[in-house]
Amino acid sequence: MKIVHTIADLRAHLAHYKRPALVPTMGNLHDGHLALVRQAKPLGDVTVASIFVNRLQFAPHEDFDTYPRTLEADAAKLEAVGCDVIFAPSEQELYPEPQTYKVQPPTELADMLEGYFRPGFFTGVCTVVLKLFNCVQPRVAVFGKKDYQQQMIIRRMVQQFALPIEIHTGDTLRAPDGLALSSRNGYLSETERAEAVQLSLALKGMAEALQKGEQNIAQLEGLAMKKLTDRGWKPDYLVARRRSDLQAPQAGDALVVLGAARLGTTRLIDNLEV
Ligand code: PAJ
Repeated sequence: MKIVHTIADLRAHLAHYKRPALVPTMGNLHDGHLALVRQAKPLGDVTVASIFVNRLQFAPHEDFDTYPRTLEADAAKLEAVGCDVIFAPSEQELYPEPQTYKVQPPTELADMLEGYFRPGFFTGVCTVVLKLFNCVQPRVAVFGKKDYQQQMIIRRMVQQFALPIEIHTGDTLRAPDGLALSSRNGYLSETERAEAVQLSLALKGMAEALQKGEQNIAQLEGLAMKKLTDRGWKPDYLVARRRSDLQAPQAGDALVVLGAARLGTTRLIDNLEV
């Protein structure tokens, strides 16, 4: 496995490959990330993981400075699952000057849910993902359903800009109790970690009610919000939406339930396809 830190080295190394498969990450890798790399491997002729904590997608009050940076451990894990190349640029390398050209995703996709509670988040994500795509020039890229709105927005970006990249999505990997794996789980205290599963349980409850034919979505959402609030969480949203564009569902739409909530100072997100 090769670790490269510059765009020039990356391009030199990938020059002879026809079909790079990329898994973009911010590092501090867990089994969910590694599953995406395993999924990517047979899809291309060289597997690339990028590791870059992207300042553009963090608001000033968010955890950019404290976000865990664990390159050595990440490299060992990636090597073990057969990743071929790690692209780990410095901030100076990826943003040598302020990134003032940006990709602004459409308001109807990007200003709701995560984008409502984290203004500018998806502009930061799309901008870095497009730039990573330009550096690696992959034919395939794999994203996790854990970040459901993110994979939808990136899919649309690729489609609308006619980028020659197939987007694949991987299922969410969970801890044995059901908590979705996340780099941010490391911020939880022991008591918070035991409580954290309640977010996925709330979503599971919503999904089961919908499967049983529950029609009153507003009431279902309100009850789930109350359940978490009563347990001491600060939920941002718990909603049922249609999968295709995350708008309010019409009869017959395939659904997904999505939630984001703060437990102490840690903000967790999760979702479940119904
Ligand atoms: P990061 O949070 O590191 O996630 C990298 C990829 O791993 C994303 O596609 C995410 O959806 C996926 N992932 C996270 N947790 C997962 C889990 N439990 N199971 C399966 N996949 C999981 O998402 C980002 O980084 C950034 O926004 C990025 C796309 C790299 C742009 O900076």
